[in-house]
Amino acid sequence: MLRLSLAIFSIGLMIQFTSCVKQNEEDLSGAKYCKIDTPSFQQHIQIIVNDRCMPCHNASNAESGFDLSNYTNIADIATNGVLQGVIRHESGYIPMPASAPKMPFCEIQIIDKWIEQGALNN
Ligand code: HEC
Repeated sequence: MLRLSLAIFSIGLMIQFTSCVKQNEEDLSGAKYCKIDTPSFQQHIQIIVNDRCMPCHNASNAESGFDLSNYTNIADIATNGVLQGVIRHESGYIPMPASAPKMPFCEIQIIDKWIEQGALNN
């Protein structure tokens, strides 16, 4: 009986441990962006948009007419509130990225900071 409960206990610990590790990996994937105070379009924003949006919003496949492959078009939706509306899943906007979970918090936050600082082509 003691052995059985020990075994169950260990399995429980193992499950907790692996889910913990997974959680940390997910956090870390976006966490680096939370540490940046002055975002750069080229070094951060473009990389995030390429990764999260470009598959469906590029020059040859621009869903809803949005081609997000260049600064001008990204800056347009950044300055009129649409970019934040869709990635923060605000009401009145179609949530993006489509058919995927909400982007990690730190990726949303660095986009917010970049917009606050003028959505520059820096
Ligand atoms: C898997 C494909 C896919 C990805 C990835 C994706 N989109 Fe979209 N996007 C769509 C589709 C499809 C629509 C049209 C949805 C509709 O009309 O119901 C759309 C519509 C939009 C619209 C118009 C929304 C509106 O309210 O009219 C914007 C803006 C947009 N996407 C921005 C983004 C941004 C920013 C990202 C990255 C964070 C992104 N999308 C990622 C497929 C995608």
